[in-house]
Amino acid sequence: MPAETDALKRAAAAHALENVRDGMVLGLGTGSTIRFFLDLLGERVRAGEVNGVVGVPTSRRTAKIARGHGIQVSRLRAQPRLDLTVDGADEVDPRGDLIKGLGGALLREKIVAQASDRFIVIVDESKVVERLGTRSPLPVEVTRFGSSRHQAFVAGLGAEVTLRRAADGSRFVTSNGNYILDARFPEGIDDPAALDGALRARAGVVENGMFLGMTTRALIAAPGGVRTIDPGGTG
Ligand code: A5P
Repeated sequence: MPAETDALKRAAAAHALENVRDGMVLGLGTGSTIRFFLDLLGERVRAGEVNGVVGVPTSRRTAKIARGHGIQVSRLRAQPRLDLTVDGADEVDPRGDLIKGLGGALLREKIVAQASDRFIVIVDESKVVERLGTRSPLPVEVTRFGSSRHQAFVAGLGAEVTLRRAADGSRFVTSNGNYILDARFPEGIDDPAALDGALRARAGVVENGMFLGMTTRALIAAPGGVRTIDPGGTG
């Protein structure tokens, strides 16, 4: 990853940190951008500048990083209502709608975001698209049982679909024991709400990576500064 992109991710993360107050329960997303947020939050916690914060991580990776920084980590069971979730994204459109899940944590990320009063998304400008699906495939988490049928179903919705593989070539399995189909739409996604509805109606489709109407604020870092989109969603 070029150093400039890392600097942008860090800048977006630093802006998100301004929303953190003592005693907050925070949803902690997954990915390389959130890594910067965790690093900065950890610095504040260790310096005693932020106190009493509890994090609910969306992946084992994030839990490990948070703990390593001395950030207290909990579970949704113990913290059913979160003040704020901060997460990255693979795409952000002008309405603040998202595609997430290239890291494979989409289901837990969506559950945690929906348990939060506010959902702040941090990205560098390369993630901004006019239309969802033009830069990233849409990750679709499906049950292992019937996975070839699920693949055919998603292909029938107009996508080129591949079953995600791990680095060693084996089938990628999510933290919830499912597979992920990566659905690439050659012209982007024409009607995200309709596609979301079609996927939701299908048995065996556990979740998809479109986060529609959920974003409270997107922080988009570019070399000239960090701009915001404020759709006002509530996770
Ligand atoms: C993880 O499952 C994803 O939803 C990530 O939030 C998304 O892929 C962004 O990751 P990066 O910050 O690494 O680009």
